[in-house]
Amino acid sequence: MCGITGYVGPRPGVRTVIEMLRRLEYRGYDSAGVAVAAQGGGDMRIVKAAGKLAVLESQLQDHWETHGAAIAHTRWATHGGPTTPNAHPHFSQDGKIALIHNGIIENYQELRAELITEGFVFASETDTEVMVHLVDRAFQKRGSMEAAIREALTLVTGAYSIAVCSSHELETLYCAKTASPLILGLGEGENFLASDIPAVMRYTRSVIVLEDGDFAKITPAGVTLTDLTGGAIHREPFAVTWDEQTAEKGGFPHFMLKEIHEQPRALADTLRGRLTDSERVFIPELEGFTKEQLASFSHIHIVACGTAYHAGMVAKRFFENLLRRPVEVSVASEFRYSDPLVSQQTLCFIISQSGETADTLAALREAKRLGATIVSVVNVVGSSIARESHACVYTQAGPEICVASTKAYVTQLMVLYLIGLHLAAVEERITDETHQGFVRDLVALPDAVESVIGNALLVEDLAAKLADRSVFFYLGRGYDYAVALEAALKLKEISYLHAEAYAAGELKHGPLALIEPGVIVVCLATQPAVFDKMLSNIKEVAARGGTVVGVVYENEHRLDTTADHLLRIPAVRPELSPIVSIVPMQLLAYLVAQQRGCDIDMPRNLAKSVTVE
Ligand code: M6R
Repeated sequence: MCGITGYVGPRPGVRTVIEMLRRLEYRGYDSAGVAVAAQGGGDMRIVKAAGKLAVLESQLQDHWETHGAAIAHTRWATHGGPTTPNAHPHFSQDGKIALIHNGIIENYQELRAELITEGFVFASETDTEVMVHLVDRAFQKRGSMEAAIREALTLVTGAYSIAVCSSHELETLYCAKTASPLILGLGEGENFLASDIPAVMRYTRSVIVLEDGDFAKITPAGVTLTDLTGGAIHREPFAVTWDEQTAEKGGFPHFMLKEIHEQPRALADTLRGRLTDSERVFIPELEGFTKEQLASFSHIHIVACGTAYHAGMVAKRFFENLLRRPVEVSVASEFRYSDPLVSQQTLCFIISQSGETADTLAALREAKRLGATIVSVVNVVGSSIARESHACVYTQAGPEICVASTKAYVTQLMVLYLIGLHLAAVEERITDETHQGFVRDLVALPDAVESVIGNALLVEDLAAKLADRSVFFYLGRGYDYAVALEAALKLKEISYLHAEAYAAGELKHGPLALIEPGVIVVCLATQPAVFDKMLSNIKEVAARGGTVVGVVYENEHRLDTTADHLLRIPAVRPELSPIVSIVPMQLLAYLVAQQRGCDIDMPRNLAKSVTVE
């Protein structure tokens, strides 16, 4: 999603905000721009370009070392195409005010019509541009940037974080937020603003995370925080302790591969502090949930998007088996407009890596409004979803930078297994023996994943054979079906190949018509209870000339003569196999995309954190 950076202080403003933006490139964007209120006065200098940051940088040679308060932006198109005029910053007609924005101005069409009637000329198709003209109009009346921005903000509805710089007030930046993330970095005689912490990490470790409704005036000497009406507020800075290396590739060619390799550690970190010495699960964040309270929930609803939704599909099955209660799982964008059957008797799980996905956040708010108790599973600490939940159980994946989710997915699964076991134990639905057996098997998962990663060369060999094919199917039954969905998503989003997932039993109800020589059919077959059924489906595929890639436990040989290729994984408890069986699928997607020369970490048309609807 859009990246925002800003700087006031003695460093060259343009260079600093562009270097900060580079730290946010992973979020995905399609154009970029920068504005500086140059020291010594004169008009703002504003440069924008469609495409990657390198294109913008090539146009900045004359401005690179310009000093002055500066803002910069990477845009992911929402209103208006990814063109240079639509790139941010947008600026007032006299060129003295520049503004960048993340989010959506919902009433921009009415405001735009009103401003056009008054004689304002628009240079872009964006919703954002109305905001800068509103600020300009208010400045003409009030003669104060702060008052003008505040007035403009009262006129817009929607979700935003904005940053403004102006040649009316050199050495001063303003920013405000109602929804999209915004942070301040505090330095000595200099200050920073950004849409995410990695942007400021090389300059300062002292950070303030702004809350919805915060407004900040930023000068080299300090920051003044108020609410949108001007009332003083205080936010305590905190020290960022992350190692800068954790936000970089660490020697791997892509963040995706690095993050696949980080999965054993991420899984172990996620277990840490959540197991007792007597081999039981205990999640401190859920301590308040008593047996009586749990009994009051008639059903469970899981809501998420994309990969997180696929984790929810695994959890549905696991929770239903363990808790003997109906569990529904919904895509957030459907849930929020479906008049959902949610009440005080609903326990609602919200799953999100970023904690900022707009549809998921809106679904959370709707479920909360209807009386549900909200437990979220989130990776980004302090994110909106985490803050607005009744309880939040964090995954411990660390920063996930590649757009395609890998380590966040497996840690989401781990947390969901832990939650299922915790609740089953509180409700006394499992024996101690079963509970301890699960815990031992969970503890073994990081090693099982490590061993799959250790066999990556076999997957590489397969990827080389498959990279020129254009149609992929993924089949599975039960837990394997949920993994098939996630495996197909991984391949399609980074390799741009057509990949479809089906519950294997559905094949004969339509998709079988598409199976012919040349079509790749990846068959996940890790579930003993339905193995024979799966074998029949695989034979149906083979009989029609499809190329069968089997994913089986290492001690399984019943596919040896039917499959064209086999990927073997360590045998684990069937309920837990998704954490292991997805790993060769991630590697296959990565290696096929690499063979095809795709932009793996920043696939086309996608963004890491989807903070608009
Ligand atoms: O941050 P979230 O987990 O809420 O994001 C949800 C989806 O946008 C995300 O999982 C997406 O599907 C990934 N790109 C898949 O790899």
